[in-house]
Amino acid sequence: MVTTTELFLLTFALLIHTTFFSSSVSAVGVNYGTLGNNLPSPKKVAELLQSTLINKIKIYDTNPEILQAFSNTGIDLIVAVENSRVSNISSDTSAADQWLSTRLLPFIPATSVVAIAVGNEYLTTSDEGFSPDPDVLIRAMRNLHSVLLARGLDRKIKVTTPHSMAVLSSSFPPSSATFAPNLADTISAILQFLVDTRSRFMINAYPYFAYRDNPETVNLQYALLGNSSTTVKDPKGYVYTNMLDAQMDAVRSAINSLGFGNRSTVKITVSESGWPSKGDVGDIAATKENAKVYNSRLIQRAQSNKGTPMRPRDNIEIFVFSLFNENKKKGGETERNFGMFNGDGSKVYEVDLRCDFCGGTTTTSFGFGEKDQRNGGGGGGARAGPSVWCVAKPHAAEEVLQEVVDFCCGAGGVDCRETYSESGDCFEPNKLLAHASYAMNSYYQMHGRNYWNCDFKGTGLVTFTDPSYGACRYPQQ
Ligand SMILES: *[C@@H]1O[C@H](CO)[C@@H](O)[C@H](O)[C@H]1NC(C)=O
Ligand SMILES: *[C@@H]1O[C@H](CO)[C@@H](O)[C@H](O)[C@H]1NC(C)=O
Ligand SMILES: *[C@@H]1O[C@H](CO)[C@@H](O)[C@H](O)[C@H]1NC(C)=O
Repeated sequence: MVTTTELFLLTFALLIHTTFFSSSVSAVGVNYGTLGNNLPSPKKVAELLQSTLINKIKIYDTNPEILQAFSNTGIDLIVAVENSRVSNISSDTSAADQWLSTRLLPFIPATSVVAIAVGNEYLTTSDEGFSPDPDVLIRAMRNLHSVLLARGLDRKIKVTTPHSMAVLSSSFPPSSATFAPNLADTISAILQFLVDTRSRFMINAYPYFAYRDNPETVNLQYALLGNSSTTVKDPKGYVYTNMLDAQMDAVRSAINSLGFGNRSTVKITVSESGWPSKGDVGDIAATKENAKVYNSRLIQRAQSNKGTPMRPRDNIEIFVFSLFNENKKKGGETERNFGMFNGDGSKVYEVDLRCDFCGGTTTTSFGFGEKDQRNGGGGGGARAGPSVWCVAKPHAAEEVLQEVVDFCCGAGGVDCRETYSESGDCFEPNKLLAHASYAMNSYYQMHGRNYWNCDFKGTGLVTFTDPSYGACRYPQQ
């Protein structure tokens, strides 16, 4: 017999299902740099990002306040080893383990760390007093991977390193791009590491700089991710209507030229891309209007599941640079003006970060400076909407429930300690069904409360009734 509640749940699930699949939303990442003395607290940032379509952030260190603030938010984090620390971690695995255990372990699994960026543009950085050593970089990456493996975290947390486009010696035409000859051995070793560990190749790509340096030869629409009518044709037949695609295919060709074309494909992540809204005198393209156009298109692009002319089916993961203008950043004026938001939380320009499916939100124009209206909205909400939990179905098969518990509470999973021993608040009733419910709910809350995160091979059930009992509290966002 189907009860009213079940019927309601079914309708609810179907509703979300239809909405999601008709739009096939991909993730959008953003870089969250903190070189400003006027930025909102990480807690505030985490709270407000939850009602946007941004579901991944990348930071430049392991700021504990940020790691704490993004716990149980459904937002994935990429953290970083600063360039100056890479050498310490390269010395031996115990240094890497110390880094991991003091900086990350206290926050996981409540905080969903999915990757560690070892250095930033490490190989091509010429900051004062810093001399990059390629062997050091590779050793640091291997050491971190080893300690993640030893702790059973290697499947969830990937190790990689973001490069600048300067690792290429030529990028045009895209199909004949290659890496700088002096870096070829290093990049080969990195690629082999990425293949072996199923991690991604990260590249920071800025059509803005290419335009700024050659405004006479580069078409502005081509640089601005437009569908430029002045197309660029590659001798191999690929036709480019925007520069970012050409840059990505140049990176792809360079990877292939090192012999990695036929091995299990290394995926590419655009770890940074963006456009400044203000520059020094003469930076005529650094305007709010151009920044708005570029970043809006970049966000659409990130959501589109589109590949490049060379690899139309391989969608590219993108992290916009950047969330905030950072008033303490060194360098030219543009460096401090890549943000979509000002330090006080107001928008630098209008950019649509609304998330129609994140639930309950009626915030029509997201901005930190505005009142968060999401509690007032009806919405059929997944992420930040009404109170909703995930529990195990009453007659679910024991084998599957055990699998679910192992999966959820395993390495890189959620915190199930309350169910482990008699001292845990959710240990009683000591039944697999109860422990599985607790684990499923924690997983569901942590992974963004999308219906598919409460499926568990058909054994999970979304409920609007709080399953907490006695001292046992079921987490809820
Ligand atoms: C690495 O850094 C840690 C923490 O600062 C320090 O205790 C350790 O001695 C350093 N190791 C090396 C080899 O520099
Ligand atoms: C871009 O323009 C080309 C040629 O005009 C057209 O075939 C293509 O569909 C357009 N793409 C987009 C995304 O608008
Ligand atoms: C990849 O495989 C194809 C077909 O097997 C071959 O023609 C091509 O040369 C190979 N490319 C590389 C880079 O090994």
